[in-house]
Amino acid sequence: MVIISSYGTLAGMKLNITPTNREVTFDKDSIIVSKTDLKGRLLYTNRKFMDISGFSEPELLGQQHNIVRHPDMPRSIFNLLWQTIKQGKECFAYVKNITKNGDHYWVFANITPDYDEKNNICGYFSVRRKPKGESLAVIEPLYKKMLAAEMATNSKEAIAAGTQVLNDHMHMENKNYEAFILSI
Ligand SMILES: Cc1cc2nc3c(=O)[nH]c(=O)nc-3n(C[C@H](O)[C@H](O)[C@H](O)COP(=O)(O)O)c2cc1C
Repeated sequence: MVIISSYGTLAGMKLNITPTNREVTFDKDSIIVSKTDLKGRLLYTNRKFMDISGFSEPELLGQQHNIVRHPDMPRSIFNLLWQTIKQGKECFAYVKNITKNGDHYWVFANITPDYDEKNNICGYFSVRRKPKGESLAVIEPLYKKMLAAEMATNSKEAIAAGTQVLNDHMHMENKNYEAFILSI
């Protein structure tokens, strides 16, 4: 098995965290919150974010949100996320995040644009809850298939390949992405 270290960066340097395959979870009543600028740089994280990720506030603030990116996450999901929020729409997504020591935690995230007084998008918020086990039983194999499709092609085609797997699944379910995500 090939073990890929994390893609995250800290101050522009690749983090190289090796996944442990150990899952950490959090209370179903807790929420993990972050706020970013237009480029996805962290401006705010709540206490729960720091507690579960193992990163301190000074390590997080100003860094790209990919600091918690897990290598098992398909690139095509983040592509969909950014496409959606840049249009001013909210996005729901299941995300597997990596902690500072390589453990991981699954979240169900709602990402929304933040607007300034002139109604221009000035940043983004994410509020995450603990996902249900039944939802992850659908998402994990789907993401594995998407990631495999991304890895089977070259870097330029990867997002299209992962998106195709997602779209095929939506087609099979006869639902659009949001309806599917909210139905599981
Ligand atoms: C508000 C907001 C919240 C985000 N939350 C996460 C997150 O929890 N985990 C994650 O890996 N990426 C998150 N992202 C996406 C990252 O910005 C980034 O696109 C992703 O980690 C993929 O990294 P890459 O673009 O360097 O490949 C978030 C983006 C925004 C705008």
